[in-house]
Amino acid sequence: MNTADGVRRVTACRVCGADDWLPVVDLGSVPLANNYLDPAASYADERTFPLGAQSCRSCRLMSLTHVVDPELLYRDYAYVTSESVTITRHMRWVAELLGTRFGLGPGSFVVELGSNTGQQLVEFQRAGMRGLGVDPARNLAGRAAANGVQTLVEFFDADLGRRIARERGHADLVLGRHVFGHVDDLAGLAEGVRELLSPRGVFAIEVPYLLDLLDQTAFDTIYHEHLSYLCVSTMATLFARFGLRVVDVERTAVHGGSVVVVVARAEGPWPTRPSVDRLVELERAAGVFDDGTYGHFSRRVALIRAELPQLLRDLRAGGATIAGYGAPAKGNTVLTTCGIGRDEVSFCIDTTDLKQGKVLPGSHIPVEVPAHARANPPDYFLLLAWNYTDEIVRREREFLAGGGRFIRPIPHPAVVAAGDSAMAG
Ligand code: TMP
Ligand code: ZN
Repeated sequence: MNTADGVRRVTACRVCGADDWLPVVDLGSVPLANNYLDPAASYADERTFPLGAQSCRSCRLMSLTHVVDPELLYRDYAYVTSESVTITRHMRWVAELLGTRFGLGPGSFVVELGSNTGQQLVEFQRAGMRGLGVDPARNLAGRAAANGVQTLVEFFDADLGRRIARERGHADLVLGRHVFGHVDDLAGLAEGVRELLSPRGVFAIEVPYLLDLLDQTAFDTIYHEHLSYLCVSTMATLFARFGLRVVDVERTAVHGGSVVVVVARAEGPWPTRPSVDRLVELERAAGVFDDGTYGHFSRRVALIRAELPQLLRDLRAGGATIAGYGAPAKGNTVLTTCGIGRDEVSFCIDTTDLKQGKVLPGSHIPVEVPAHARANPPDYFLLLAWNYTDEIVRREREFLAGGGRFIRPIPHPAVVAAGDSAMAG
């Protein structure tokens, strides 16, 4: 990035090149969501960056208004792929689905972009396939190696795509789970993937699905790493520019509602499955192309930002204690953009070792190990990791049975207790 301060305003749409944006939300200036801080440090120099979303009136990409330098975001990365039951099961499903539908088997070559600790590639390697990870996080490659996954510690681009193809062969599958929305130069990415794919190869992307984001008012998905909020229609527009074609789509519940989109060479052998047109049609019917849809979303975001801190303050005024369940990046969007801090939430618990003992960016709420909450049970848990509600509620039966309650911030602030149907969320 050429800007001296590491941030740049988005003008030309990264999908279609237009510069005709509908403003959607302005969430102010907040710190980077994965920038967990050392409690011994001074917070005086904590940097904030503008956070907002806008919708391209031409291709309906929803994009951040500002892009932060990826060197600041990814070289030392606190997000470690979840080892939760939900995600482990999901990764198995992804490997089976793609393996079965696209003829992968022993000896197939799978390259994963944003491979993190290698957990997803392990699922393919277990089936006898050859895996290679690409991830710029210097602090995670060792963890991937310990999982038996080899990683190139680099940002993926057209040059790297060519180099991998030359040195290791063409890929039968290129996979990008929750990384595609993080990439600014989609042309470079698409070109690199085309260079890397074998003639029958496919590129499978999993991203938070714009329809679910709008439907659930999941504005916490908006943080500086997530540059693009995508629907199938927009991805079809993008890939058509690069001689690629969307051949398959599947919705899945992970991360609050995501979509798996499979792309192949336009001239290649894979037929376009009917599910693609069905989702494109659903997107049109859901109002993805109407300005009003985004105005409605924006008003509901404003309501959450007004009501959630008020709810927490009322509970605190009544003498209740509140802790955060999970310390996900998305939780930091909720906390920092709603002005929630230690007065409302005493601590968060999180299973990620890289987060424990740190404080959250912006709100400076301490992150504790889960055992801390068993020794100091709060009256309420604010479900920052609400996308794991089922799994968490199952695990925290005792907390609920003892009268403990959960607060869901999304889709609308609500207190839920044992037996409430909202718990099923
Ligand atoms: P994610 O939604 O991006 O996967 O982040 C989930 C975060 O929540 C991650 O930091 C791990 C944490 N977490 C817990 O602490 N306990 C849990 O039971 C689950 C499911 C997640
Ligand atoms: Zn556009």
